[in-house]
Amino acid sequence: MPEQLAIHGGKPTVPEGMIKPWPHITEADRQAVMEVLSGESINEQRRIQSEKLSQEWAGYVGRKYCIPTNSGTAALHMCVAALGIEPGDEVILPAFTFWASAAAVLHHNAIPIFVDIDPRTFCIDTAQIESKISDRTKAILPVHIHGMPADMDAVLDIAGRHGLKVIEDTAQAHGSRYKGRLCGGLGDVAGFSTQMSKTLTTGSEGGLFVTDDENYHKRAALLQYFGELVVPGREREEQEYNAYGLGWMYRGDVFGQAFIRSQLKRLNANNALRIRNCNFLTKHLSKIKGVETPYVPPECEPVYYNYVVSVKPDELGLDISSKTLREKVQEALTAEGMHVGQWQRAPVPAQEIFQNRIGYGKGCPWTCGYARPVEYRKEDYPNATAFIDSHFYVFDVNPPNDLDLMKRYVEAFEKVMDNVDRLIS
Ligand SMILES: Cc1ncc(COP(=O)(O)O)c(C=O)c1O
Repeated sequence: MPEQLAIHGGKPTVPEGMIKPWPHITEADRQAVMEVLSGESINEQRRIQSEKLSQEWAGYVGRKYCIPTNSGTAALHMCVAALGIEPGDEVILPAFTFWASAAAVLHHNAIPIFVDIDPRTFCIDTAQIESKISDRTKAILPVHIHGMPADMDAVLDIAGRHGLKVIEDTAQAHGSRYKGRLCGGLGDVAGFSTQMSKTLTTGSEGGLFVTDDENYHKRAALLQYFGELVVPGREREEQEYNAYGLGWMYRGDVFGQAFIRSQLKRLNANNALRIRNCNFLTKHLSKIKGVETPYVPPECEPVYYNYVVSVKPDELGLDISSKTLREKVQEALTAEGMHVGQWQRAPVPAQEIFQNRIGYGKGCPWTCGYARPVEYRKEDYPNATAFIDSHFYVFDVNPPNDLDLMKRYVEAFEKVMDNVDRLIS
């Protein structure tokens, strides 16, 4: 007699309380944050934490400059500004990403132009980039989605041939490598998010801008601090109260910076544990009929910010859509005690803002007089749509969750897929 699924009243495979949350907080992290409060001057700590984090993260990625920010979106907006991108200029990016990648472009009155994704890596389909280049194009913005490096050789080759700059969206790829080189060290500039869910985190909100170029660094620094060049905590020495250009308030927070510096010491170890967990899942889940595990190109070493799986009704001889099967399987796995789910619900260009193009109001930046007319047609991104319909995420592959939990995950998948007929009928 087959085991009864939890969704039909059986015993859940993953016991309650077994899944541990991220970020994993240690005594060292607590002490690092407490040290900010142990001195007399928080202002002095602002300078120390900000300067040290800049040095440490630049050193980790192998870049000359780093500026800590208050979000990944801010870091990406600084990338756009650093490159001298102007109103009406176009930036090419993938249709599947968190929409902040495109917001960073719009924040500078520039125009996002979307390209569909590669159906195997879910990163930008580099074969389609050149058809989207116009005389307005200034940069390509590949996103290392789910921690999977984009095909950077192809991106850099296209950029080189067309005189374009490259902005890496490294929000999800702290420590991922492409041909042995760290993501964030491959393009002209890169923006990392360090928001709570990320594989390296400030604990709540934050981001990191990096580059090797002195001028880009200077322009980004101006944008970060209201249009002036000031290191947080050095206001008395450095602030003139004279904005040299348009600036925002993108400064990072001292407590988050202390926390992330402590977390950074364990980044490689945490990545290795997450990769081990995910390799274990791939080894076992790939044997289950109807389940597809992530494809990893030989030149890529992803850190698996997200572990992505899909379901294949045709492999199971089922005459239903992959969306319907995915929903049924997700529900059953959730009942088994797993944390699984969806992330994006539509390709970015299909979202309301690109359909209505109201922007800042009166249609800006699309109608401000600088941009050429562009249209965002939902049907132009079939791979992104198919990905969203058929895939879901296995959460909590982060340490301290270990192979004991991964074994339960595999058992839950086996149980659900063995009983898939009962889910459908
Ligand atoms: C791919 C991608 N880009 C940009 C961002 C924006 O980062 P933040 O939320 O820190 O502004 C995120 C964050 O979730 C992201 O996943």
